[in-house]
Amino acid sequence: MNIYSNEQKLFFTLHTKHTTYQMMVDEYGFLLHLYYGRKTSGTMEYLLSFADRGFSGNPSCVGADRTYSMDALPQELPCQGTGDYRSPSIVILNSDGSYGCDFRYKGYLSRKGKYALKKLPAVYADEEEAETLEIYLEDTVSNVQVTLLYGVLPELDIITRSAQITNAGFGKIYLEKAQAACLDFVNGDFDLISFYGRHAMERNFQRTPVVHGAQVIGSRRGTSSHQYNPMLILADKETTEDAGSCYAMSFVFSGSFKGEVEWDQYNQTRALLGLSDELFSYPLLEGETFIIPEVVLSYSRDGLAKLSQNLHKCIRNHLCRGSYQTGRRPVLLNSWEASYFDFNGESIFQLAKDAAELGIDMIVMDDGWFGKRDDDNSGLGDWYVNEDKLGESLGALIQKINGIGLKFGLWFEPESVNEDSDLFRMHPDWALRTPNRLPVRARNQLLLDFSRKEVVDYIFGQVCNVLDQGNIEYVKWDLNRSLCDFYSNAASNQGRVMYDYVLGVYDFLERLIKRYPKILIEGCSGGGGRFDAGMFYYTPQIWCSDNTDAIDRVRIQFGTSFGYPISVVGSHVSAVPNHQTGRLTPFHTRGVVAMAGTFGYELDPKSLSEEEKREIKEQIGEYRQYADLIQEGLYYRLTNPLTEKVGAWEFISEDLSRVLVNAVVLQIHGNMPVNYVRLKGLKENCIYREQKSGRTYASNALMECGILIPNEMGDYQAYQMYFELVNEVNNG
Ligand code: GLA
Repeated sequence: MNIYSNEQKLFFTLHTKHTTYQMMVDEYGFLLHLYYGRKTSGTMEYLLSFADRGFSGNPSCVGADRTYSMDALPQELPCQGTGDYRSPSIVILNSDGSYGCDFRYKGYLSRKGKYALKKLPAVYADEEEAETLEIYLEDTVSNVQVTLLYGVLPELDIITRSAQITNAGFGKIYLEKAQAACLDFVNGDFDLISFYGRHAMERNFQRTPVVHGAQVIGSRRGTSSHQYNPMLILADKETTEDAGSCYAMSFVFSGSFKGEVEWDQYNQTRALLGLSDELFSYPLLEGETFIIPEVVLSYSRDGLAKLSQNLHKCIRNHLCRGSYQTGRRPVLLNSWEASYFDFNGESIFQLAKDAAELGIDMIVMDDGWFGKRDDDNSGLGDWYVNEDKLGESLGALIQKINGIGLKFGLWFEPESVNEDSDLFRMHPDWALRTPNRLPVRARNQLLLDFSRKEVVDYIFGQVCNVLDQGNIEYVKWDLNRSLCDFYSNAASNQGRVMYDYVLGVYDFLERLIKRYPKILIEGCSGGGGRFDAGMFYYTPQIWCSDNTDAIDRVRIQFGTSFGYPISVVGSHVSAVPNHQTGRLTPFHTRGVVAMAGTFGYELDPKSLSEEEKREIKEQIGEYRQYADLIQEGLYYRLTNPLTEKVGAWEFISEDLSRVLVNAVVLQIHGNMPVNYVRLKGLKENCIYREQKSGRTYASNALMECGILIPNEMGDYQAYQMYFELVNEVNNG
C-alpha cells in the first residue's frame, strides 16, 4: 500500500504481487478511481480527461469550470445526486424526503491485517498476509458518513471492498441502493462473462460483448439463486484461458443481489456489484450503521485460468473455515437418490452396511426422517425424529452405524415450514407472508421469518436437540424454494427483510459451527441455488446441483470452476438411467466427473452389479490417492465442453510434479477424427511419466500438441491420466 500526497491531491495505491489499484482525492474532495490492472508504478492521474460536455452537469464547487463532471469521471463511490447519471453505488432517501448525497473525503486509516464485518462473512487473513485501508467520506448536509473498506491480499492478487454507512444526522434515512464495489474503466472494450441457469442446470457460461446500455444480472429471490450467480468477469475481447486481461467480481453474500455493467456515452465501462435495490429500502435511525457485504476483486493479465486460480485460493484458504477447510472430506453415500422418502432405520442401516463393504466413509440420511414427512408436502419445521418410521431412536441407529465403522450425517432444511406441520399450527405468524394475501407456495412449503431472532433461536434449539442425540459428523443444510412474500410480522420496515433474513441465516450457521466445530456442513439449495462466496464462510462445500447426470455435470462444473474451487463442489456418482435426464453413462465416467468435486455416491449399492461394486472400490482408492491434488492443486480447464467434443480438465500440484488429467468424450461419431487435449501449466522442458501406461512424454509436447484421447466405442467414455515429473531437464 502506498499513500502519498502532492499539491492538493492525495493518492492511495494498493499493490498486490501482480496488480495495482489506484484512487485519488482531488482538490474538491471527490474520491476518484484512477486505475486497476497490471502492476505499475507512479500516478495515473494523467488518464483523467476533462471536456465541456453537453448535458453532463458540473458540481457547484468547481465554479465556472464546465469541464469537471461526475457524469464522466471514474469514481469509487458513485452516488445519485452529484450529477452522475450512470448507475450509482448508493442511493439515499434523506430524512427531509429528498433524494441525493454527495460524499467528500474526510480522512483515512491504513493498517496491517484484513478487516472483518460484523454479522457478515468476509475474507480473513493473518496480520502479515493482508492490509486494510479505510477511507472516510462524509455528506456534510445530511451528516451521513461512509467508511469505504479495502482489503489487500498481495500474494493472491485479491482486493476486497465493502462499505459502512452511518446515519450521523437527524431523523430516519432510507438506504435505497447499496453496492459494495464499483469498477470504473476510462477505456476498454470488454466482454462480460456471467453464469446463468435454472434448477438442475446451474452456472452456464455466457460471454457477451459489453454494449451501450446496462447489462444486469441479479436475484430478487432472497437467495443468490440458480438463475444468476453473483460472480462476474470482465475480459478483454482477445482474452483466453491462457492469456489476456480479465477482472473478476464475486459477491460474498447469499441473498438478493444486483450486478450491472454499462458502456456509457463516452465509451467508459462501469461495473457494479452489491445488494439488489428491489424491495430494499433499509431504514437507518440516527446513530445506526449499515454494512454492505463484501465483494472480492481480482485481476489477471494471464487469462481466465489464472483469474480462477486466484479466486479458488481466496475462497479455499480465506473464506472456508474449520477443520474441513483443508481436511480430507469423507467419501459419503447419500440416501436421497437411493430411496428418497421411502426408508426406515433398517434400510438405512442396510445401506450403511453395503457402503462400509465398498470402503465408503459416511452414510447421510437425507430428507424424511423427522416429523410427518413421507413426501414433500408436510413436516418441515418439525425437527424431531420420527422414531416410528425409523423403528428405533436416532441415537441407536447412529451407534449401530458407527459400530460398523461408518460416520453418520443428517439432512435439515431449517428455514422452511410446511403449513401441514405442528410448528405452523403453533406459530402461523412465523412464516413470511404478506398480510391479507394468500402466500405463494413452492414445493408446497413456506419460509420461516429468519429476520426474527426468536424464530432463529427456536429452530436453532430444535436442530441442536437432534444433533445432540448421537455422533453426527455431517449436516446437509438445504433450502428448497425462493423467498417471495417479503413481509415480516416483526420488522418495523419491510424494506429490511431481504437483508435481515440473510443475516438470520448467517447467525444460525455461525452459532452452529461454534457449537459443533467438528461437524462438516454441506450447503444446498435444491442443489446449487445458494452457491456463493458468502456461504462458503460457513459451509466448506455445497451440493453443486440436483442434476447428477455426468454429462450435464461436466458443463455445470465447468461454469462453476470459473469462480469456485473444486474443494467446495459437492459431486456424487448416481445410478443410471440418470434420475434427472434418463441418460446412460458408463460407471467409470460418473466416477471421473464426481472426482471434480467432493466425491461420493447417491445410489443404492444393492442395485449394482459385482463389476460396478468392484469399480466403486477402485474409484475410492483413486480418489484417496488424488485427493490432495483435487482439493489443493491448481485447476485448469483444458477444453470448453459447451463447444468442443471433449470435456477436459487438469489438476496440478503447486510444485508441478504431479498432474491429473481428466477427459470425457461428449460426442461419438463414425470414423471420428482423433481428439487431442493440450495440457497446461507443466514444467517446461521436462519429462513426465503417465502412471498406467508407464509411458514418458516431453512436457512441451504435451502442452503444444496435447495428449491423444482414444476413440473407443460407446457413448461418453472417460479417461483419467496421472502423470509424475520424472526428469527436471529434457535435453533430448
Ligand atoms: C433438495 C436437495 C436434494 C435432496 C432433496 C430432499 O432438492 O438438493 O439433494 O436433499 O432436497 O428433499
